[in-house]
Amino acid sequence: MKKLAICGTSHRAIRLWVEANAEVKTQWEIVALWDIDPKRFDAFKNMFPEIKPQTFLGDENYETMLQTCSPDMVLICTRDNYHADYAVRTLAYDIDIMIEKPMVTTVAESITLLEAAEKSKGQVYVTFNYRYQNTAVAVKEMLDTNKVGRVTAIELNVYLDEIHGSSFFMRWNRLRKNSGGLSIHKEGHYLDMINWWIDQNPVEVYCFGTLNYYGPEGILNPSKKEGRHCSTCSESDACAYNRIRQEKETGDDHIKGLQGRIGSRAANTDYYTNYAADQCIFDSEIDIEDTYAAVIKYDGGAVLSFSVNFSSPFEQHRVVINGTHGRIEDGYTFADNNLYTAAALAYYPLFEKQAKSISIKNSTGGHAGGDPALMQDILCNTDKPHIARAGLKAGTYAVAIGEAMWRSSQTGLPVKIKDLLGDWDDKLKKNEL
Ligand SMILES: NC(=O)c1ccc[n+]([C@@H]2O[C@H](COP(=O)([O-])OP(=O)(O)OC[C@H]3O[C@@H](n4cnc5c(N)ncnc54)[C@H](O)[C@@H]3O)[C@@H](O)[C@H]2O)c1
Repeated sequence: MKKLAICGTSHRAIRLWVEANAEVKTQWEIVALWDIDPKRFDAFKNMFPEIKPQTFLGDENYETMLQTCSPDMVLICTRDNYHADYAVRTLAYDIDIMIEKPMVTTVAESITLLEAAEKSKGQVYVTFNYRYQNTAVAVKEMLDTNKVGRVTAIELNVYLDEIHGSSFFMRWNRLRKNSGGLSIHKEGHYLDMINWWIDQNPVEVYCFGTLNYYGPEGILNPSKKEGRHCSTCSESDACAYNRIRQEKETGDDHIKGLQGRIGSRAANTDYYTNYAADQCIFDSEIDIEDTYAAVIKYDGGAVLSFSVNFSSPFEQHRVVINGTHGRIEDGYTFADNNLYTAAALAYYPLFEKQAKSISIKNSTGGHAGGDPALMQDILCNTDKPHIARAGLKAGTYAVAIGEAMWRSSQTGLPVKIKDLLGDWDDKLKKNEL
């Protein structure tokens, strides 16, 4: 058995092991958990009482874990802003790492990681699970087999519903110092998927980003107060977001796990120390955007028009990929917690009036089957090529576009990716790291 250690026994880390299939679990065992919070070990034990990994508590014991357990791979799954530090420290031991997305929270951290990786024998994988959804794989195959010719223009609209969208503003993710903001933390998924699909590198970004729904000025804020928590809030009945959460909160993976399986979501203090994921979405400390409209230029001639909204009546994404020989439309809508059931993929060759509907096989597992496929692809070797393994280059460009988005929205000026990455931009373009 190969040895897997977990750095950051987060909700997501536990979830990923839930998602791992039998092949992964016959080849890998979890030998060590590391965290700064002992309650996270209880959360793991609650979910997997049969697994008995060694536990290592506190920053000062991180290297002890690496030395004692000699893992073959470390899953880095702490809060985003700690990824870079633990990744660098793991690479110093020449150990492979898989880092939850976003790889890091800033371009500066990306560069630190790139420098550490150059000196290490450890391999870096980034867990971009969206790549592994059946629809995403089908789009990739169509583009790679030149179905639309050279990609010229992409339109991408992402809508998160009131529950999913607001959840980011209830948790640590709502501060840029923790998550990099949602253009990095959340939209990195999509930005990476586009980069991967079209196989072009981003060059320049222009963006408007604003906070419309959340923060003290949110139009649906029942009153301006600080530090409320949904579980104890006297105004919870007057909060439209709380009301809909009470009515509908069952479907979303990010919420369901916290809610049902790992203690109650409302006051999920059971499994965190001094942290509850039900902070008020109208607090003034929120310093990130909930709405974006961006334009991104690529080095192969494509342009992307990208819009995101974090408070929409239902969850949806729509992608249109236009090329010199045709067009692909990819979309899903999930309403009433009917997650991922309405996926649609269509191909429109140029000059042919008839669209071709592409049927997509349904997959079970989190993120429309993306999670189990990702775990298998990163952790297991088979005869098949690794369809979508992402590494440092992909992780860095996703962060760089996301940072360019929020920087552009603050200055009103376009941001060149090379100005953020310097010489690393040239190096990344030459090598898949
Ligand atoms: N790919 C996906 O679909 C997906 C979904 C959810 C989360 N994620 C990612 O997974 C990771 C974990 O997210 P989550 O929502 O499960 O988090 P979480 O809130 O459940 O856990 C955060 C972890 O970080 C630890 N932590 C807190 N302060 C720390 C510090 N000072 N030093 C080190 N560790 C500290 C906490 O103890 C906890 O174990 C994040 O990187 C997040 O972006 C990815």
